[in-house]
Amino acid sequence: MPLLLTTLAVALLTVFCCTIVPHLRRLHTILHFIKTKQLPLYPGTLYAEHNSFTIPFPIPGKAGLLTAEPECIKTMMSSEFKNVGVSLGRAPYTPLLGAGLFIQDGARWSHPRSLLRPLFTRSAVSSFALLESLLQPLFAHVLAAQKSGEAIDLEPLFQTLTLDLTTAFLLGEPAGEKGKEFADALEEGMKHVNFSLQLGRFWWVWRPRGFTAAIRQVEGFVEHYLRRNSSGAFVKTLLDAGESEQQVRAHVLNTLFAGRDSTAATLSWVVWNLVRRRDIAARVRAEIADVVGDALPTVQALAEMKFFRAVLNETLRLHPPVPLTNREPLGPTVILPGKAPIRLKQGEPVYLDFFTLHRRQDLWGDDAAAFRPERWGENEQFEREMTARWCFLPFGLGGRSCLGQQLAINTVMYTIVRLSQKVGGLERVVKTQEDGDQVRFTNSPVPAPGEGVWVALKE
Ligand code: HEM
Repeated sequence: MPLLLTTLAVALLTVFCCTIVPHLRRLHTILHFIKTKQLPLYPGTLYAEHNSFTIPFPIPGKAGLLTAEPECIKTMMSSEFKNVGVSLGRAPYTPLLGAGLFIQDGARWSHPRSLLRPLFTRSAVSSFALLESLLQPLFAHVLAAQKSGEAIDLEPLFQTLTLDLTTAFLLGEPAGEKGKEFADALEEGMKHVNFSLQLGRFWWVWRPRGFTAAIRQVEGFVEHYLRRNSSGAFVKTLLDAGESEQQVRAHVLNTLFAGRDSTAATLSWVVWNLVRRRDIAARVRAEIADVVGDALPTVQALAEMKFFRAVLNETLRLHPPVPLTNREPLGPTVILPGKAPIRLKQGEPVYLDFFTLHRRQDLWGDDAAAFRPERWGENEQFEREMTARWCFLPFGLGGRSCLGQQLAINTVMYTIVRLSQKVGGLERVVKTQEDGDQVRFTNSPVPAPGEGVWVALKE
């Protein structure tokens, strides 16, 4: 009996040491990166330890893989597209966002995607009347700050702008006054989702009262619009095609999640970079003055701003709003990170790390860490080349690439042009000790500047 007990104790200890301890150690390291607001840099330390850009990354209850290797990313996003899904890894989002197209695989993804695609075509997202009207409250804040001489944080203003813009696009009306409560509930819900994502296959055990309350509020917000029966093209297209109200709500929330924070973060990072590089900011201003002067920019005018576009690309390279995404094989799959193939089991999570990919020196050169828009050149040749080599993927690539890419690019460029026309210049203001040269990120799946974007405005 004592021998049996000892054997059992040793077996349990071995299981504990081999499975739980590594997770606890990793959690400890992750918490350090969270505390110092450097989370996107964490995978880089792991690749350095393993001397490889494709490494094991088990999650509680499962094996897993983390990769910043173009060939592996291509396999998971394109070559093996039919044999790869996302829904297992994204299941923790369903209590809050519903089972919409961002979270689903198969026909439950492809059907709504094909219905919605025409709403995102280049011509469909080329009218700026709505954006111009939604920019007015932002300008009012900015001009008031300019008058009073006070510094202002642009990050929350960009978040309000993109919430209004996305709700107007998805639900036919800007969130307006109701937006703050909804955004708070969404943020609270996301905190719980992020926690449950850490629990791997046991994600479903996490359902505290605060999470349930946030879910109810988020759902109630969308339902309010759906009941009014005048919610615009996005909702109408889905309802006319026979999607249930519950499905429509999920598609709205999924798209809102995909589009709102990412556009706000991009706007924030563009300004964050410009206020740190006066030389580049001056070139962007000169280009804007040259191409549009004081006139309202059109899509054609934005397309002419080659240097500004290079600044945007360089921002998306160094600060991709989606630093990491997930995939899982629907059946046995093989990826080839180097000479030795890796066999993946069905359902094994693979994390695609765009953040590290965009900063690899062997792909981008010795100055990969530097903000240097000039690397993009005057035409789109370099962008095409880096995309074709699967080295530059801020909007993803392949069958599940971003539906809102053109909308996001137009929104960011138009907003910055208009801001530049309204104020004489933006100057960096250091508000916290942490806001030094070391970049910091918010601890969110869509990382924005961790200390905000504080600026002073010149006349
Ligand atoms: C700068 C802003 C944006 C960035 C960087 C961005 C990035 C991305 C990325 C990387 C993906 C692919 C994720 C994956 O393959 O796992 C994606 C998907 C998606 N994005 Fe965006 N996005 C932005 C703005 C938007 C906007 C404005 C919308 C719509 C209002 C939008 C709607 C979507 C949707 C619906 C998907 C899912 C596509 C699918 O699964 O088929 N995005 N986005």
